[in-house]
Amino acid sequence: MENKDHSSENPTIGSLFSALPDRLSSYISELVSKPFQSGLVYFLAGLLPSLLIGWILFPMALYSKQMQPVNFSHQLHLDPEVVDTIEGDTEQERCFYCHAFRDDGTFVGIPNLESCMECHDDPESPLGETPGEEKFMREYVAEEKEIPWLVYSKQPDNVYFSHIAMVKMGEMACETCHGDHAKTDQLPVFRKNRLSGYSINIWGKNITGFKINTWDRMKMDDCADCHTEKGFEEHNACFVCHK
Ligand code: HEC
Ligand code: HEC
Ligand code: HEC
Ligand code: HEC
Ligand code: HEC
Repeated sequence: MENKDHSSENPTIGSLFSALPDRLSSYISELVSKPFQSGLVYFLAGLLPSLLIGWILFPMALYSKQMQPVNFSHQLHLDPEVVDTIEGDTEQERCFYCHAFRDDGTFVGIPNLESCMECHDDPESPLGETPGEEKFMREYVAEEKEIPWLVYSKQPDNVYFSHIAMVKMGEMACETCHGDHAKTDQLPVFRKNRLSGYSINIWGKNITGFKINTWDRMKMDDCADCHTEKGFEEHNACFVCHK
């Protein structure tokens, strides 16, 4: 069978394609030369507000903002010049002073008030002079009340996540998934998605869905992508992450 030129067999489609660039350019020149008659102005007048709503106002309304109850500075507590009793050979070992693993392998997570009171033990004699410490002493230490921290990376209850697997077996640094949180002096505002209930750290900091760093978003696919990348596809079965 010989090779046929299909466009010549079907003149309507062929001519349509060859005429397309011409029609398109005359259409565009009409749009630009007669913006009112062509409707371009009305189109833009509708487009701009919808972009404003879609890209700026909607994401702003979608997330509620909450402040942490107390500002905790990782930078200050991890500065050996200020706090010299938090020791360790590596930076990660110094994290374990507060974020330890229990003997059964479970992760302490955010430390409780008792760990803070190893140093901040007496409300009458603060360690420094800042109003932040004064408030922390008055409202929590003196009252012996736990601080209701908001957890940026909190996953839904049906997700099983094990730090010991990632940090000890997987030998991954905290920054891999949490970014530079431990270098900060001011806690970021906690932003919770009103529809899903997830924090912006899970749902994604970028509304276009574009992701640059591992820690920009931690949804189901993001977990699975890293497992595949590291050669642990076997952990991508439903029952591994959903117990
Ligand atoms: C003196 C105790 C202390 C030490 C030491 C410490 N942390 Fe924390 N960490 C906290 C407290 C309190 C919070 C809760 C407030 C906050 O979000 O920062 C916290 C929260 C965090 C969070 C936020 C988790 C989330 O999703 O909300 C990360 C990440 C974290 N710490 C990482 C580190 C790393 C990495 C190190 C070591 C470089 C470290 N921390 C050392 C006390 C400590
Ligand atoms: C190993 C000792 C130690 C531990 C444990 C510790 N702190 Fe501190 N904290 C300090 C020192 C020292 C300062 C600095 C005082 C200064 O020079 O201003 C400080 C300062 C503070 C301040 C004031 C900082 C500011 O910039 O306003 C707050 C608030 C605070 N700590 C909260 C906590 C909380 C909450 C915990 C428990 C998760 C905790 N600390 C655990 C030693 C400690
Ligand atoms: C592979 C990614 C990953 C690594 C590596 C990792 N984390 Fe996390 N971290 C998470 C996820 C996901 C959560 C939320 C878990 C959940 O809600 O069940 C979390 C939660 C936390 C929390 C809050 C726990 C709570 O009280 O609810 C702290 C604190 C924390 N991580 C600190 C650390 C520290 C310190 C390290 C390093 C020693 C570390 N993480 C390494 C992914 C990671
Ligand atoms: C940056 C890479 C990375 C990210 C992100 C990550 N993981 Fe993992 N995960 C690993 C590696 C590597 C292992 C295998 C560790 C090993 O067994 O040596 C693992 C193992 C696991 C396991 C098996 C643990 C066990 O007890 O056997 C579970 C469950 C898991 N991951 C859940 C999650 C969930 C849920 C998320 C997202 C919230 C997540 N992981 C995000 C790298 C990652
Ligand atoms: C690598 C870990 C991982 C695996 C494997 C995994 N999931 Fe998930 N899943 C998550 C995480 C993390 C979330 C929460 C974030 C999100 O919604 O993406 C989630 C959320 C969900 C939700 C929504 C729950 C809610 O409360 O919003 C459903 C439903 C779900 N997973 C079903 C499944 C099914 C079915 C499979 C198997 C085909 C599966 N998952 C495999 C990590 C995993």
